[in-house]
Amino acid sequence: MFQINENYGKLPGSYLFSTIAKKVGEFQAANPDADLIRLGIGDVTQPIVPAIIEAMHKAVDEMGNKETFRGYAPEFGYDFLRRAIADDYREKGCDIAEDEIFVSDGAKSDSANIQEIFSEKCRVAVCDPVYPVYVDSNVMAGRTGTWDEKSGLWSDVIYMPCTAENGFVPEFPKETPDLIYLCLPNNPTGTTLTKSQLQQWVDYANRIGAVIIYDGAYEAYISESDVARSVYECEGAKGCAIELRSFSKNAGFTGVRLGFTVVPKDIRCGKTALNSLWARRHGTKFNGAPYIVQRAGEAVYSKEGRAQIKEQVAYYMNNAGIIKEGLTEAGYRVFGGVNAPYIWLKTPEGMDSWSFFDYLLKEARVVGTPGVGFGPSGEGYFRLTAFGDQENTVRALDRIRAL
Ligand code: MLT
Repeated sequence: MFQINENYGKLPGSYLFSTIAKKVGEFQAANPDADLIRLGIGDVTQPIVPAIIEAMHKAVDEMGNKETFRGYAPEFGYDFLRRAIADDYREKGCDIAEDEIFVSDGAKSDSANIQEIFSEKCRVAVCDPVYPVYVDSNVMAGRTGTWDEKSGLWSDVIYMPCTAENGFVPEFPKETPDLIYLCLPNNPTGTTLTKSQLQQWVDYANRIGAVIIYDGAYEAYISESDVARSVYECEGAKGCAIELRSFSKNAGFTGVRLGFTVVPKDIRCGKTALNSLWARRHGTKFNGAPYIVQRAGEAVYSKEGRAQIKEQVAYYMNNAGIIKEGLTEAGYRVFGGVNAPYIWLKTPEGMDSWSFFDYLLKEARVVGTPGVGFGPSGEGYFRLTAFGDQENTVRALDRIRAL
């Protein structure tokens, strides 16, 4: 008789954004005329910019022509895209070789899959609150021990609480981790570390022999000059850090799907380079991102593409300003929204995250994300995304102010 992976049975509830979608669906079914404004999941709303669309059209035409048709893509990505990515790193002062870049179908899959190349004995450290994929994927792999419903914590995960009290800056944990997940700028709190704070994490990882899994999905939203745009701006990071990157949030590819992971060749466990393990995994389990999509990715780095996506990022950051200002006027304590498209707010006294979710949905018809969904230290907080369109963002804030 077959047996299942028992670790799946340990996962409490469903994936955060599936739970929210279900709740909102039920509310909409019960209130079919309700005009909901969705500022929950960080999904983009603005169309893909012309330079990228043009590149995709051209690639589509190539696929319809015998001479230029392409079948399976190279397993790690087309040279033209890996080159464009490596050049972009070089412009930021980071020396990343093309064969350290692995093109994928997005950072969500990579952030879930990267743990596969590590021993199941590795101790994992995460910020709390945290993007749920990091924890859930380690639960599936059997690395997290048992779940305590009361505390909302896994027995074998090392948590680094990030709250208003410590400015949402994780502190080095008391226990020694092997893998450290850092998402900067942070999802969900919208805050970030300065380059010198990040350097301390790189030094720490090198000192204890840990690997940092650095999720840089929101890099395009950095506006302050003392914030690193890549972990590789820090000295020694090529010996200890893997960087995950996405095209979803900088270029609107949430529905197109493209990302990449950088695994430097210098990170080794004895004689084994993580780069070759990830290459082995990628080659076995992934057949390459579509040619059309990779050409779209290449256009992100073109002169026109860069200028156009910069405007789009500015559009979303203007929304972030509208949300921050509106919430502050309405008397909320607000964080984030300066180097990230997320605004993290303290729920009103006596209201937990899910009560506030229900309250906002019912009274303002606005959908957000309850902070506790990202971990126990997110209790009493709530996340709004700046990825809506401007008109809806303004309307949402009018409604919240009027409550
Ligand atoms: C979020 O809302 O946290 C993200 O959009 C989810 C994701 O990127 O998978």
